[in-house]
Amino acid sequence: VPTPTTELWARDPHTAAKHQMLRAYLEAWFPIIAAGFGDAGLTYVDAFAGPGEYTEGEAGSPLIALAQARRPNVCGYGHPIRLVFIEERQDRWAHLSAVIESRFPVSSRPSNWRLRILHGRCQDRLIPALGELGASNAPIFVNFDGWGVDTPLNLVRHVGRYKTPEVLITFQTQFFLRFATQNIPAGDRVFGSSDWRELAASGTPDEKRSRLLHLYRAKLNEAHFDYSLVFEMLDEGGHDLLLIYGTRSVRGLEKMKDAMWSVDRVYGQRFRDPRDLDQLSFEINDEPDLTLLKRQLLVCLEVGETNLEALKDFALHETIFKGAHVPTAVIQLEAARKVVCTHARRHEDFMVRLAPPTLF
Ligand SMILES: C[S@@+](CC[C@H](N)C(=O)[O-])C[C@H]1O[C@@H](n2cnc3c(N)ncnc32)[C@H](O)[C@@H]1O
Repeated sequence: VPTPTTELWARDPHTAAKHQMLRAYLEAWFPIIAAGFGDAGLTYVDAFAGPGEYTEGEAGSPLIALAQARRPNVCGYGHPIRLVFIEERQDRWAHLSAVIESRFPVSSRPSNWRLRILHGRCQDRLIPALGELGASNAPIFVNFDGWGVDTPLNLVRHVGRYKTPEVLITFQTQFFLRFATQNIPAGDRVFGSSDWRELAASGTPDEKRSRLLHLYRAKLNEAHFDYSLVFEMLDEGGHDLLLIYGTRSVRGLEKMKDAMWSVDRVYGQRFRDPRDLDQLSFEINDEPDLTLLKRQLLVCLEVGETNLEALKDFALHETIFKGAHVPTAVIQLEAARKVVCTHARRHEDFMVRLAPPTLF
């Protein structure tokens, strides 16, 4: 997909779906943080903010965050709500400033908002802005939504030093793979070193992507994001978008999964687990296709009998499915005679093991 060069551009279905997910996540997460962290307040950053709206007037991510930050269950405690938007291009920054001014005029803003709309590159502006706002003891969520722009690992690492840090990083999958051949300096910035290069030197594109993502998750982990969720959204045109979320909170991980699974099918998105070399993709709907989860559970069970609670944990941490999908998947596997279950009400006592191989 060509990168837009105009001040505003049309919103594509990917972006619509991603925004729906972001809104659902912030709707759940802001109130939890606002209620749980007292006078530290919270911080939201759009490191690649954009112009604030799309050509048909649809809200961009800064407006989505502002609307959530104005809700009484977020700002009503009176603790600081720091909102930082950084945009490199002068025309887009001016547009963003004007759109915020018109939709959230100063008179309508809660007095505890600390709003900064900054012109410049996030590489230069992010860390000083967080220092100026006194954000270091507060939970923070940073949206790094830069198209193919390389989100530098050093910024991600900086955020990881904060209390309760969260990052949502977007790449075009093609861009993620293209480092290997076309943009080595960008790859070095994204991975914070040159160790990715040998992983990208051989293999099919799917193998490379899977290895690079494995390395990227390890880097997030080193940067104190103990948990991460990696998934791809595909649209009807076959474009794919890679989303990487990192957190130190299991609850955050659960909420982000809920948000991902709440995306409307009207946008025609299909989802994919980039670690799955078979590249099975599926729609999100009320009756999710659990084919991939069932396959992943069978692999997990190869090490031995496991209880349902541990399988739910596995799904939460190692797949793009929710823990809540596991009981249905296990019952389907049992009906297909792929697993044998010892049923129990408590999920800790509900044991699952691989069925013995059939003789015919
Ligand atoms: C994908 S758009 C952001 C869309 C926005 N997050 C939304 O959802 O509405 C990426 C934006 O980042 C800006 N940009 C590119 N490089 C940047 C940098 N180094 N620092 C800050 N902004 C940058 C681009 O001008 C563009 O407006």
